[in-house]
Amino acid sequence: MKRTTSLRQILATTACAAVLAFGGAASAADPEMLSNACAGCHGTDGTSAGPATPTIANLSVEYFVEMMKGYKAGTRPSTVMARIAKGYSDEEIQAMAGYFQQRPFGRPEQVVDAAKVKTGKSLAKKYCESCHEDEGKVGEGVGVLAGQKLPYMQYSVSDFLDGKRQMEKRQAKKFEELKADHGDAGFEAVLNYYAGVK
Ligand code: HEC
Ligand code: HEC
Repeated sequence: MKRTTSLRQILATTACAAVLAFGGAASAADPEMLSNACAGCHGTDGTSAGPATPTIANLSVEYFVEMMKGYKAGTRPSTVMARIAKGYSDEEIQAMAGYFQQRPFGRPEQVVDAAKVKTGKSLAKKYCESCHEDEGKVGEGVGVLAGQKLPYMQYSVSDFLDGKRQMEKRQAKKFEELKADHGDAGFEAVLNYYAGVK
């Protein structure tokens, strides 16, 4: 999926250009070797240090594979992952998914707004927790929100709301409800809350 160059793209690529240069060269089926090509952006063992790059540790194999296939097919919006995902076979993706699932999801401190966190906690219960269980820590089929990078989640939510990233019906319904009841501030609050979960 072609996107216009944006701050988002620049954030996603500048810190990682060096890694990209050899990222595509990994060919061994050894998952640890393969995952070295991801470390420059997603951090050693999948816990990201950059703001726009999500942490990919501890995601369910199913979700990880689904995301990679979506990037490859162009059905999921991305700044850099479409290009990267195309460099890997289904077997290699499966192997990396298994490798990263075994790593702990690191939650380094993020700057969040305390007032938003407070409001967000109760909104999340009503609009999000039914799928993003255990404070967003359970990522079975939905991705982990607890401690995920705040800018990455903000980009994701605007892609969902703009229709660039597809939502299942029940998810779309909750998004509509939150938007109608609390507007953009409601999403800001919820995402600040999830970003701050330890
Ligand atoms: C140049 C930086 C860069 C490299 C290298 C990179 N990624 Fe990514 N990755 C991103 C960014 C940025 C996103 C968010 C989507 C986008 O904008 O492309 C992302 C998203 C993802 C996601 C989705 C996470 C979620 O919670 O939804 C997965 C899975 C992923 N990458 C796996 C990988 C794997 C596996 C590798 C190594 C083979 C890799 N990435 C290499 C930058 C990178
Ligand atoms: C009915 C279930 C459901 C509800 C309710 C729900 N979500 Fe999700 N959420 C999903 C699914 C499924 C995905 C994975 C979408 C995909 O495959 O791209 C997801 C993904 C996400 C992502 C992207 C995660 C990533 O790693 O890329 C964010 C951010 C998110 N949801 C935020 C929210 C927020 C905020 C709420 C509450 C307003 C919410 N969701 C409510 C099902 C739900």
